[in-house]
Amino acid sequence: MAMKQATAWLLLLVAAVPPACKQAQLSHTLSPKQAFVADSVLVFEPDHVDIGTVKEGEKAVGFLRVRNAGDAMANITAVQTSCGCSVAEPEQRLLMPGGFTRIKVVVDTFAKQGDAKKWVELTDDAGRRSRAWVTLHVDPNPHLDASSRSIFKGKCARCHFAPAAGRVKGAAIYRAVCAMCHGADRGGAAGPSLQAHHDQAMLTHVIADGAGSQHMPGFSLRRGGPLNDRQIHALAQWLASQ
Ligand code: HEC
Ligand code: HEC
Repeated sequence: MAMKQATAWLLLLVAAVPPACKQAQLSHTLSPKQAFVADSVLVFEPDHVDIGTVKEGEKAVGFLRVRNAGDAMANITAVQTSCGCSVAEPEQRLLMPGGFTRIKVVVDTFAKQGDAKKWVELTDDAGRRSRAWVTLHVDPNPHLDASSRSIFKGKCARCHFAPAAGRVKGAAIYRAVCAMCHGADRGGAAGPSLQAHHDQAMLTHVIADGAGSQHMPGFSLRRGGPLNDRQIHALAQWLASQ
């Protein structure tokens, strides 16, 4: 833990020099959301903490620090994270002017690989928001290949399975269960870009049966996924035509 805190403080020094360009540099691979404007008196110091390297499947834990930069009491009324795979909890919600608290961030690294970046967003009692980033590097864990865990199960299902229900158009299915990993514009995020894929048969095959790992599972009903044959057909046809 001491190491992680040391890293955090080191980053504080780095972040203190050019905060604006650090922000710009970090936001380019963010979720497909619009540019985020921080307007809260709750200020993350620093606004980026690197957890370091963990093995896939291990929980990654990091700590963010947040300060009340206003001149009145501030209350943290909501804490959100970019993916439901991370949970962030402040040690204290009510902050005196100038007061600090720590926020513990726990990232479930199942199905992650390589570099991951998650944001944590706070809302204060006036509805204003601030954001910080947690980065980590996930190393492969061969033991997970045989695991029965899936992004379609348990608490992951709410966002990675359920949103496909009832959707019939390729573009809508894509937005519901693919865009989070392949980018709103299909240009790639945690998964590769799909922009150059025009082979409908190949697309159908990968969507239905997956790419052979938990990172890109098969989405067909028979593989435990959320998509029926019609939906897979519509999605593959739409992707191939883009
Ligand atoms: C509240 C909705 C929600 C829930 C619940 C959720 N996710 Fe996600 N997930 C997202 C969104 C949105 C993204 C894209 C933004 C991002 O990467 O943070 C994402 C991205 C991902 C990615 C690719 C990005 C990366 O970090 O490698 C993986 C893998 C993933 N989720 C796994 C999971 C697992 C495993 C669970 C269950 C423990 C889960 N998710 C639960 C919404 C959710
Ligand atoms: C949790 C993240 C995640 C989700 C959700 C996801 N993918 Fe993937 N996808 C990946 C990753 C990562 C790869 C790279 C292969 C691997 O690592 O197993 C991949 C690979 C692919 C490939 C092969 C690309 C290539 O160049 O080899 C296709 C096609 C694809 N995905 C389509 C889709 C479609 C369509 C959806 C929605 C039904 C989808 N993916 C949902 C993460 C995801």
